[in-house]
Order: sequence, then C-alpha cells, then structure tokens
Amino acid sequence: MRKVGIGQALLAALWMAAASAASPTEVQRSLEQTARATTPGFAGFSAHRGEKFFKSTHGGEWSCASCHTQDPRASGRHAKTEKEIRPLSPVADPRRFTDPAKVEKWFRRNCNDVVGRACTPLEKGDVLAYVMSVRK
Ligand code: HEC
Repeated sequence: MRKVGIGQALLAALWMAAASAASPTEVQRSLEQTARATTPGFAGFSAHRGEKFFKSTHGGEWSCASCHTQDPRASGRHAKTEKEIRPLSPVADPRRFTDPAKVEKWFRRNCNDVVGRACTPLEKGDVLAYVMSVRK
C-alpha cells in the first residue's frame, strides 16, 4: 500500500472540511483568504459596497434584488419562472451560506446572469457581508 504523506493527509482533511457543512462566517473567512491573495490593496469586505452591488443592475436587465428582493430577509421570487426563493440572508434562513459548493454554484450562475461574468472574490465577500449585516 502507498504511504500517505502528512501533506496529502492534511490536504484531504482540508478538502473534506471545505466540502462539508460550514457556517456563513467560515464561508466568509475562506472568501477573505482568496480576496487577500487576489485583490491588490484588499482592506476587508464592505456591507455597504455589497448592498450597492446587490441592488444595481450592472447595465443589464436584472439585479440580484430582481429575484432576491430589496430585502435579503424576505422570500424572493424568480424573475422568470416566478418560483419562490427562500430568503438569502442567513439571519432569516440559517441554511444559507452553509454549503460552500452550493454557494459557489449559485454565485457563478447568478453573477453570469446579472453581471455577465463571474463575481470577484471581493464582490462575493461584500455581498455576504451585506446579507449577514441585516438585522432581524
Ligand atoms: C433570475 C433570478 C436570480 C437572480 C437575478 C439572482 N439569483 Fe441568486 N439565486 C436564485 C435561485 C433560484 C437560487 C437557488 C435557489 C435557492 O437556493 O433558494 C439562488 C441562490 C443564490 C445563492 C445561494 C446561497 C445559499 O447558500 O443557499 C447565492 C449566494 C445567490 N443566489 C447570490 C446571488 C447574487 C449575488 C445575485 C446577483 C449578482 C443573485 N443571486 C441574483 C435566483 C436568482
């Protein structure tokens, strides 16, 4: 049998931790690590910037609020299919931002629909800071 080095074991453990359930704070911390490494002059996330990003149409037809509403504590409705969407804020729905794979999947899809490209780590972190900052 092949010996598994400490580095490999550690990587496997990290990977499993990333793939399993996390908390919004852990998801935020992981985004922060990426943002720090990829954003020149990174000085932390901003809920204020996140709110502006969330409510802006970015020159297209939709904003994030088109489906998730202007209030991330409220249930949303899909702008096209009209299917109900659970509130996006973990303040209102504790299941939000606890599954890193799901978070990534929907950021990718929704950012493409709204901004026409993937969101940067800074934009994702700002949005998460915003939806975590709203109070009950
Ligand atoms: C056309 C409708 C639509 C728009 C516009 C939209 N979303 Fe979503 N979003 C959805 C749907 C549908 C889901 C998945 C269903 C669910 O989780 O309730 C989702 C889920 C998410 C999730 C997953 C959160 C989790 O942990 O469960 C994130 C993050 C997200 N959206 C962010 C955004 C951001 C940021 C924008 C703007 C750039 C945006 N969305 C715009 C429809 C939309």
